[in-house]
Amino acid sequence: MAYEDIYEGWKQDPESFWMEQARAIDWDTAPGKALFDKGDNLYEWFSDGMVNTCYNAVDRHVEAGHGARTAIIHDSPITGIKQKISYAQLRSRVARLAGALRAKGIEKGDRVIIYMPMVPEALEAMLACSRLGAIHSVVFGGFAAHELAVRIDDAKPKAIIAASCGLEPGRVVHYKPLLDGAIDQATHKPDFCVIFQREEEVAHLEEGRDVDWHAFQYGVEMADCVPVEGNHPAYILYTSGTTGAPKGVVRHTGGHLVALNWTMKNIYNVDPGDVFWAASDVGWVVGHSYICYAPLIHGNTTIVFEGKPVGTPDAGTFWRVISEHNVRSFFTAPTAFRAIKRDDPKGELIKNYDISCLRALYLAGERADPDTIEWARDIMGVPVYDHWWQTETGWTIAGNPAGIEALPVKTGSPTVAMPGYDVQILDEAGHEMPAGELGAIAVKLPLPPGTLPTLWNAEDRFRKSYLDTFPGYYETGDAGMKDEDGYLWIMARTDDVINVAGHRLSTGGMEEVLAAHPDVAECAVIGVSDELKGQLPVGFLCLTKGVNRDHAEIVKECVAMVRDQIGPVAAFKLAVVVDRLPKTRSGKILRAIMVKIADGTEFKMPATIDDPVILDEIKDALQTIGYAKA
Ligand code: COA
Ligand code: AMP
Repeated sequence: MAYEDIYEGWKQDPESFWMEQARAIDWDTAPGKALFDKGDNLYEWFSDGMVNTCYNAVDRHVEAGHGARTAIIHDSPITGIKQKISYAQLRSRVARLAGALRAKGIEKGDRVIIYMPMVPEALEAMLACSRLGAIHSVVFGGFAAHELAVRIDDAKPKAIIAASCGLEPGRVVHYKPLLDGAIDQATHKPDFCVIFQREEEVAHLEEGRDVDWHAFQYGVEMADCVPVEGNHPAYILYTSGTTGAPKGVVRHTGGHLVALNWTMKNIYNVDPGDVFWAASDVGWVVGHSYICYAPLIHGNTTIVFEGKPVGTPDAGTFWRVISEHNVRSFFTAPTAFRAIKRDDPKGELIKNYDISCLRALYLAGERADPDTIEWARDIMGVPVYDHWWQTETGWTIAGNPAGIEALPVKTGSPTVAMPGYDVQILDEAGHEMPAGELGAIAVKLPLPPGTLPTLWNAEDRFRKSYLDTFPGYYETGDAGMKDEDGYLWIMARTDDVINVAGHRLSTGGMEEVLAAHPDVAECAVIGVSDELKGQLPVGFLCLTKGVNRDHAEIVKECVAMVRDQIGPVAAFKLAVVVDRLPKTRSGKILRAIMVKIADGTEFKMPATIDDPVILDEIKDALQTIGYAKA
């Protein structure tokens, strides 16, 4: 069948479409129906089914005779480790870990925070939680103690599973002091912490609270899979919103299994047994969906890669991993390719490897610029598919359904809406815009299985963030257009979220940190274009009257505060002191205009601007740090 037939088939009868896809999952009790309308624009999927995620990702493959198949390949150019774990080994390792967690009191519904680097134990911790019906929340290692503390207070975990350290090129990331600091800062305290000690750093264990990963598993009884309701939360994943308080995206179990399993063949075009690689991090949604769950649910081999596209040891690392592990489909963020291109513009290093095993490259996480797409396609000799999605959706909203039929690629467009998503471009009043015109991108409710049903303990915020602007629709926060062929074009965010090296960050969150500096009276953070990372944050600081200190000192302190409070991942290194910020007469800071000045794009002087002269001051300030293009 062609994509168009499948999409139309879904549109005509979504219930049958998803019930059919649900047959690929092993249920303890099969669902009686797919969609549950909870009223008031809230929906759930497969709520009356009983199922276990870990069983579907691990045990069922062993029971079907595939125990010897490799489930996880750990490839760490940073440590030199290469390790393969079969499905049978994974089952024992996860069942034992789950048994140890259960022996310490973890039960269905308990939250467990996971703070780990790119080691297989991170996936095992996630799967052990799913095995028990516990709800995990993985926190990215590049976040600082304060961000971890905020998540501890929101999720209220009974346990935290962490590693002693992470490894960045040339730097050991000391997780344990960050963890201890976060627990000190948080109001909620976990009952216990499990620490996976890495060779590179053995951390001190706090008596009475911390247990060693290996020691606490010694002699415990392995745990069986606990069936849970289809609408039981599988995990919470925090993502940046417009303020410093992250949003806890909830993923329900049943829809997550059904949708992710569907994507592996239909979008990524892999069959069970094929090697699939997503070069991301378990702390992000790409890592949840495509390093851990989807490949395993579908019976693929997944790669846990601890390294960077460049510098570990060189810009040929990706090609080495693809050829050495026989990767079929590869997924990463465009920024990784920009980094490779910068180091090896002619693609010399790829000539040292045979990557003929690879069928396609998939890009997501940020806008894929045409130059990068074309460069990647030319040197790799495979199709490059951009696809667009978000932490909230957990899987592709718009992509190229290569496993159904590979649609013609229009460079710069992530292609078309996937079954389950009725994507519309709306004007401010919520009316659909004609083809070719720019508007807010919204998805008609209900969203498909696997997407967020709500935010953790924050239904009001869920409504305000996503449902209230366009009644009957989910507001994506992205702006763009659809062309005559139904292809989508994603142009910009409509909120204060920026995208730095494929990492989603809140400028509002950074402003909250800067505003706490004693000498800062007012501030604004904007995202300016950056050739490598897509965007970079730049801070503007207005000082409190009478402050007479060296501006460079204040900027240095502000940069350190953001690194200390949010983490190195914020990549906040540029700030400048200004006398005033450009505002409307009603006092709203004109951040969008500031971005245009920085990027050198044309703009119309807003009629409501208080004092246009300030724009020149902003331009001068940006020029002093090398950022005004005009
Ligand atoms: N733990 C601790 N620190 C981390 C971290 C982690 N897991 N990940 C990143 N950091 C740190 C980096 O070391 C860096 O610190 P520094 O300021 O001391 O140099 C900082 O956070 C910024 O990291 P990043 O933005 O990733 O920049 P980089 O210069 O280290 O690497 C790329 C740039 C393009 C190579 C890198 O971003 C990359 O590989 N991106 C791939 C895309 C990706 O994984 N996207 C995720 C969503 S799909
Ligand atoms: P995250 O939730 O971290 O995955 O970030 C999601 C956001 O990243 C989206 O809302 C977009 O703004 C941006 N994004 C992700 N994929 C793409 C893409 N293929 N093209 C353009 N923007 C993208």
